[in-house]
Amino acid sequence: MNIIEAKEKILENGFLDIETDVQIDLFAAIENLKKQKNAIVLAHYYQEPDIQDVADFIGDSLGLAQKAAETNADIIVFAGVHFMAETAKILNPSKKVLLPDLKAGCSLADSAPTQLFKKFKEQHPNHVVISYINCSAEIKALSDIICTSSNAEKIIESLPINQPIIFAPDRNLGAYLNKKTGRNMVLWNGACMVHEIFSLEKIIKLKIRHPKAKLIAHPECEEAVLNKADFIGSTSQLLKYVQTDNSPEYIVATETGILYKMQQTAPHKTLIPAPPNNSCACNDCPHMKLNTLEKLYLCMEYELPELTMNETLRIAAKKPIDRMLEISRAAGLIG
Ligand code: 13P
Ligand code: SF4
Repeated sequence: MNIIEAKEKILENGFLDIETDVQIDLFAAIENLKKQKNAIVLAHYYQEPDIQDVADFIGDSLGLAQKAAETNADIIVFAGVHFMAETAKILNPSKKVLLPDLKAGCSLADSAPTQLFKKFKEQHPNHVVISYINCSAEIKALSDIICTSSNAEKIIESLPINQPIIFAPDRNLGAYLNKKTGRNMVLWNGACMVHEIFSLEKIIKLKIRHPKAKLIAHPECEEAVLNKADFIGSTSQLLKYVQTDNSPEYIVATETGILYKMQQTAPHKTLIPAPPNNSCACNDCPHMKLNTLEKLYLCMEYELPELTMNETLRIAAKKPIDRMLEISRAAGLIG
């Protein structure tokens, strides 16, 4: 396939729809490509196990942003979703950033369209805008500081108590942070389709059947679920909690991809995925799971799909990310 045909395929499908030889050892081929091209594979904990196994670094949004900021690789292959690859590109304009499937989006990022958000911001003058990293580069460019679920509290606390704040785009995380910090931030009405799917009723029933199990939840979950949680934290905080806490069993209210790493790092513990409010596998993020090992291999081989960005937008979006990294460093959250 020539490069023009390859690009046409990407426009159509979001990824390179090429059949690979079934005999290829994709794990070995990816390792070779990494060396040949000085490429690094960064993966979010929500990626499928095969991808986690070939990744050079697996992390939550904060860890991945930090890794992207400091890598010496020529090519960053981002096994995650679009806004994460965008963040890597914002921090690394001269590097090639690849995303195995360009259609790997995010319902939360999509819940904040740029023009509507601009108007919302105009309606709240004098407010500092803190945006969760799960948003588009355009929303980042309209923000003062970016945060992730790992550092949001510290970012908010870095501002004077009487400073009016807009928090976007996640209303659940925003409400949780309002409670934790005693602020009254104005919240954008967005949410993550995966973290809103958990059924409180089914969780309560599960807790009756597993009385020793602790409920641990990501703060993107709805308030009713968070109110019942024994521990609330970002993906990496949940992982650490299970390793260090002494309960034998946990009900885990977040995307199921995390269970792979959790079980590896706490092999003797019983991990139960929190049940969704219907019978589908809705606590698998359909965007994260668009990436496959085969798409990862193809995108490294052909160096496509590549994430590109307008330079004016990139510079504007970088400022609030740099601020986040500075505050996180000062707070000792990253090295
Ligand atoms: P963290 O990686 O910050 O825990 O966020 C979870 C998430 O939903 C990523 O898309
Ligand atoms: Fe977006 Fe939710 Fe998927 Fe994370 S889990 S990428 S917030 S839709």
